[in-house]
Amino acid sequence: METIALLGGTGPEGQGLALRFALAGHPVRIGSRDPQRAEQAATTLNHRLRAAGSSAAISGGLNRSAAEGADIICPVVPHRALPALLAELGAALDGRVLLDVTVPISRGADGFGLDSLPSGSTGEWIQQLAPRASVVSGFKNLSANELLAIDHPLDGDVLLCGDDAAARDRCLALANRLPNLRGIDAGPLRNSRFLEAITALLLNLNRRHRATTSIRILGL
Ligand SMILES: NC(=O)c1ccc[n+]([C@@H]2O[C@H](COP(=O)([O-])OP(=O)(O)OC[C@H]3O[C@@H](n4cnc5c(N)ncnc54)[C@H](OP(=O)(O)O)[C@@H]3O)[C@@H](O)[C@H]2O)c1
Repeated sequence: METIALLGGTGPEGQGLALRFALAGHPVRIGSRDPQRAEQAATTLNHRLRAAGSSAAISGGLNRSAAEGADIICPVVPHRALPALLAELGAALDGRVLLDVTVPISRGADGFGLDSLPSGSTGEWIQQLAPRASVVSGFKNLSANELLAIDHPLDGDVLLCGDDAAARDRCLALANRLPNLRGIDAGPLRNSRFLEAITALLLNLNRRHRATTSIRILGL
């Protein structure tokens, strides 16, 4: 099973993904700027896994050591933190699969919207910042709350896009290993901007209807 490194995985989205990937049988590492924070998050998550009857074990450490040798590297930080994080990792990202789950979202007076970026999406921005990595955008439409609620199965489709077909296929397989979820090939990386817009729409729907929404594509 591929090892997954969640950089900045101490936040809610990273912890939720860590639990779900670990339950699906993947070795998972939580990265942080502070190794103690990562170890603490890993310990908490391992207690939750034990309580759920799983023997999976999540480890924690500095972002750089979590990324070292991992098969899939997933930065789970606020999008503004991406340039510094990726610069710190430098050549360690060359030839690696980078799973981009970030959404450049802000909440304004009239609801959630997308921030402007140096590229059309965070997926394309990450690809610019780490040109020798294979970036795949996806898992952007799953909320941390849903991911963390491991007593409930997830539901919906996981749209994944990227320019490297082999990397995209590996991330599709990852999505399909999570019970009830379906990975969908969403084409090239430039479609990342549409995945990000869907997240903004879902959050605005949640707010308007006091609901928790997710997506499923009909016709496929
Ligand atoms: N929350 C959701 O429901 C959701 C849904 C879909 C996508 N996402 C995306 O997932 C990403 C993480 O979301 P989140 O809610 O978990 O975020 P978060 O709690 O704000 O941040 C996650 C982690 O990022 C690290 N971090 C924060 N500022 C940083 C900086 N300046 N430099 C380096 N690392 C920094 C921190 O880890 P350390 O302090 O331990 O280093 C923090 O625990 C975001 O890009 C978000 O758009 C979130």
